[in-house]
Amino acid sequence: MYLFPGCIPCLQMCSLKNVAWAGFLTLMMCASGQKPLQTLLVGVDHRTVMSLNGEWHYLVDQSPGRALYTANGEINDKGYAMNEHPNIVGKHNQEYDFSTAPTLKVPGDWNTQVPQLFNYEGVVWYERDFEAQPKAGTRTFLHIGAANYRSHVWVNQKRVCDHEGGYTPFDCEVTAVWHSGSNFVVIAVDATRLADGIPSVGIDWFNYGGLTRDVSLVTVPEAFIDDYDVHLTDGVKFDPENAEISGYVHVLDAPAGTVVTIEIPEAGLKTSGKTDSEGNATFSMKAQGLTLWSPDSPKLYKVHLSAGADKLTDDIGFRDIRVDGTRILLNGKPVFLQGANMHAEAPVRGGRAYSDEDVSTIFGYLKDMHANFVRLAHYPHDERMERAGDRDGIMIWSEIPNWQHISFDKPEVYAKDVAMLREMIRRDRNKASVILWSVSNETPNNPSRTKFLTDLANEARRLDSTRLITSAIIGPKPNGMEMVNDDPLCDALDVIGQNEYIGWYEMTPEDADKIHWTFPQKPVVMSEFGAEAKFGNHGAVNQRWTEEQQVYVLQHQLVMLSKIPQLRGVTPWILMDFRSPTRNIPRLQDGYNRKGLISEDGKKKQAFFLFQKAYSEHAVGKAE
Ligand code: GCU
Repeated sequence: MYLFPGCIPCLQMCSLKNVAWAGFLTLMMCASGQKPLQTLLVGVDHRTVMSLNGEWHYLVDQSPGRALYTANGEINDKGYAMNEHPNIVGKHNQEYDFSTAPTLKVPGDWNTQVPQLFNYEGVVWYERDFEAQPKAGTRTFLHIGAANYRSHVWVNQKRVCDHEGGYTPFDCEVTAVWHSGSNFVVIAVDATRLADGIPSVGIDWFNYGGLTRDVSLVTVPEAFIDDYDVHLTDGVKFDPENAEISGYVHVLDAPAGTVVTIEIPEAGLKTSGKTDSEGNATFSMKAQGLTLWSPDSPKLYKVHLSAGADKLTDDIGFRDIRVDGTRILLNGKPVFLQGANMHAEAPVRGGRAYSDEDVSTIFGYLKDMHANFVRLAHYPHDERMERAGDRDGIMIWSEIPNWQHISFDKPEVYAKDVAMLREMIRRDRNKASVILWSVSNETPNNPSRTKFLTDLANEARRLDSTRLITSAIIGPKPNGMEMVNDDPLCDALDVIGQNEYIGWYEMTPEDADKIHWTFPQKPVVMSEFGAEAKFGNHGAVNQRWTEEQQVYVLQHQLVMLSKIPQLRGVTPWILMDFRSPTRNIPRLQDGYNRKGLISEDGKKKQAFFLFQKAYSEHAVGKAE
């Protein structure tokens, strides 16, 4: 969702706080000829859908993307979106043809599927036909798990939606444009990086383009459940004896007074509520004797929701996460988060991770490492990751890609950020494993950034008061062996994430032993630290790029970390080597950031076993 020039006025006109989700989106988009999104469906992976995954025809629309953008930058609805075919005889018409074009697999990035597109960051058009039998009294949405970066969607030549953001889902209503029999969908995906994008142009990960996650058609009754929140009520103090489950169910386009029921048979719980004029039905019910979700017992309950003709069942865990001084409390008990960072890249196969197999391999590594926590860097990953976290008992840090330099001085960029934040929170609000929302990573400490991110942190709290808000802070510049984090952004955070690369980018590995950190009186997660090593490259501990030196740096890190009184979590950078366009030392990096504990093809480096041992002995940090 992005704004062509000339949309600033509408932002100044409305204060973000009082514009309802749909109204805000519509306002933002219709000013620029964008097709507004009606809603974002929650729990789609628990609905019966018609998958459109598979082979899609594709055409490359190289810069400046003349098939997509008109000369004045508008979206061209009369180009490839029409899906016409060239006349073989008769007068000249079109010079494109999806029906004879090669195909790409969806979900999947185009970069690792077509060698010529490996470094391509531009517009690719996707097309596929599908058969349909629309049923009376129902509505149908095209659900896209993610498309990097900007996408425009047409069904049967009608544009149904536009979206900006490469890592969050969106839904486009097709009820009015699809028909019985053969239909077709055309999606233009533009992976071009934008200075006013989120992330912006400079990133240290591979900008995989395409329809990178599941695409499906979701049919629901005319009035249906598009959003819900079912959580353990987070009272002033954790009080399991008087536990309650509360939340809301939103029924889109339901007449006020529509009855909604929430049932959790295994816990013997059932209640109902009525929708208000906004379609919201709030509820709460006493819930004694629940088995609370935790890494040791990742208990999930079947939660049945129904409203009118619509029914949906989700698997939800109930837990309480809060901060108490410098401690993080899970279900009232102090907890230490021992984990790793992870980019959404498929082990061994490479490319964007999107499948059950990718996710189970990744979580297999985390379990093998005795991790109870993972930071999904630097953007929302496939929803399968959160489902795996729920199932396997791995707590999750989820982040929106405000990575380093973002246009923090632009209201339209803030509006994009809010939309992305809402999509992230809306998709995963019922995932017990998600305990932290992160609003950014390593952003420059200046007033417009701090205002922007503080507002965003408060928006996250407004959207979800049941989770902790964090961000990964960079710096401070060492003053001798003193490291004082006095970043004003910390005031807006519940948990401070701290990135540092002592022994790799700065100072010596041994210096870490002497470093003294000072932080605000809040829980701290050392959210990044590490060193690079090429798997199988061996040498002395002072020989960079060797497995021995990586372990040496990390051993000194563990000494330093053990001296930080409020350290409540660690996530070394990073679980696996990952592709990055900025890593170009031949034979050592070859386009990969080599700070992984595991190589990109799944080979465990010595450093993996260092953490496996430390985590099995809970030797890193203390919960209090
Ligand atoms: C930064 C950044 C990461 C990057 C890492 C590195 O801290 O947050 O995205 O990959 O450092 O330089 O390896």
